[in-house]
Amino acid sequence: MVVISLGGSIIAGDEINANYLTTFRHFLQEKSKRVKFYIVVGGGRIARKYIQAGFRMGLDQYILDKIGIMSTRLNASLLLGEYSYPRVAESIEEAYIAGRSYNVVLLGGTEPGHTTDGVSLLLAERIGEKRVINMTSVGGIYDKDPHKYEDAEILHRISFENAEKMFLNRKMNAGLNLPFDLLSLKIAERSGIEIYAIGKDLRNLERVINNEDFEGTVIGSIHGGH
Ligand code: UTP
Repeated sequence: MVVISLGGSIIAGDEINANYLTTFRHFLQEKSKRVKFYIVVGGGRIARKYIQAGFRMGLDQYILDKIGIMSTRLNASLLLGEYSYPRVAESIEEAYIAGRSYNVVLLGGTEPGHTTDGVSLLLAERIGEKRVINMTSVGGIYDKDPHKYEDAEILHRISFENAEKMFLNRKMNAGLNLPFDLLSLKIAERSGIEIYAIGKDLRNLERVINNEDFEGTVIGSIHGGH
């Protein structure tokens, strides 16, 4: 079983990345013969555009979240196929049931108040999976801002505690892009679910799935190993 949180920025930046999505579809078609995938898709630029417009119009946060959720489901729809449960699952329960019969289950957001990263961790809790693969355009966690410092190095493993500290200090490290939010981190910690933060490369994803050496960062307990 593999749970993936697919960052919206990878597939829906300024344009929809149709080439990447096509490659991802081929990947799923092939790999789902042997592995069960739950993929939670983020909103990306599309979500942000709608949310910002709604915000300027004075809409309330609840509705803005609902609009965000709809954008994530729109993005997730682009990965539906004959290999998958035929609709975007709208709750953890629906995904859980769909996963009994299908090897690919797609989700977007579920309810207001959290992000698709949060959904991926709640789902992992529900299905008893101890690893969530978080794919973003950032590709992992660096010791300093890689856009500013040429010698920035990717951290291979950090503890929940340190990830939390980095998160809380992020205002001091403007530009240090962290591929997670605090709620997701808390859910991961309470259930001992490791977050594998990687980029968009599908060969690298395959290495994670096969438990081979990969490029990225594991956020987990201090004593774990991979
Ligand atoms: P994302 O998960 O893409 O959030 O959902 P994000 O934090 O903006 O994206 P990344 O992780 O940095 O790429 C888009 C928006 O949809 C709403 C929120 O408003 C979120 O900001 N949403 C999403 C929910 O309200 N509930 C959900 O379960 C998921």
